[in-house]
Amino acid sequence: MNTNQGKTVLITGCNRGIGLAFLDAFAESGATVLACVRSKDGEFVHHCDELSKKTGTEIVVFTADLSSEDSIKAFISELYKTKRKVDVLINNAGVVTKGILQMTTLQSIKDVFQINFFAQVQITQGVAKLMMRQKSGVIINMASIGGIDAYPAYTSYGCSKAAVIYFTKTMAQELAPYGIRVNAIAPSMVKTRMQEQMGEEANEEIMRRTALKRNAEPDEIAKLALFLASDDSSFITGQVYRIDGGLN
Ligand SMILES: NC(=O)c1ccc[n+]([C@@H]2O[C@H](COP(=O)([O-])OP(=O)(O)OC[C@H]3O[C@@H](n4cnc5c(N)ncnc54)[C@H](OP(=O)(O)O)[C@@H]3O)[C@@H](O)[C@H]2O)c1
Repeated sequence: MNTNQGKTVLITGCNRGIGLAFLDAFAESGATVLACVRSKDGEFVHHCDELSKKTGTEIVVFTADLSSEDSIKAFISELYKTKRKVDVLINNAGVVTKGILQMTTLQSIKDVFQINFFAQVQITQGVAKLMMRQKSGVIINMASIGGIDAYPAYTSYGCSKAAVIYFTKTMAQELAPYGIRVNAIAPSMVKTRMQEQMGEEANEEIMRRTALKRNAEPDEIAKLALFLASDDSSFITGQVYRIDGGLN
């Protein structure tokens, strides 16, 4: 049984894809959700209102453009002003780009790192300060099998996710004395817009090598996050969970 009832969970990039599955799953498990999205659109606000009514939980929407350090700074100070506790942080938002090294500009690698890595670091610094005061907390970082295995033409994405993995492991060590656990989830293909962006060739190659012969549903990733956020995983930290349908 997952024990996330009454917890407050901050999720980035939860207006679609895996993040949206996190939002739904945590609200349904009785957690208050602090939803951090790039912009508040009507459809998303409506979804949050309906979900909140259905589950009886509170959903508070914040905005931050993770490509901007100032925007993240403003979000963190808005979060502090609410004086809310944060029990769980899920660094989920991310982008993917494709291109062989010789066709990739340094700037485009930096742009991917900004969203997939530096933004996560900045948000973690801000939120960990609250968790350290509380002497408890859970941080879940969205990595990828792309940060573990080598895929030609995915240097920017893969390196940014490898950085997330190293960050997860070091943060687990640094924050353990404060009762904070830090883990990462590394999926292969999950049915979202990002998977479509990866293109036919990459999708076919992964499918060919996947034992279960299908892609993951976003809610299958959410089930792992529910477990890692809960006290059921109280002795697990510094780990990277592959969730890949038996990729070989
Ligand atoms: N899908 C897969 O196959 C797969 C596999 C392994 C790992 N992952 C990882 O899982 C996480 C979620 O991926 P997904 O598949 O759900 O991707 P997705 O459907 O493309 O969603 C990406 C999310 O990140 C947000 N985002 C992107 N740039 C942003 C920015 N500058 N500021 C704020 N938010 C921003 C998007 O917001 P907007 O709607 O505003 O763009 C969206 O909410 C990512 O970290 C990804 O790397 C995915």
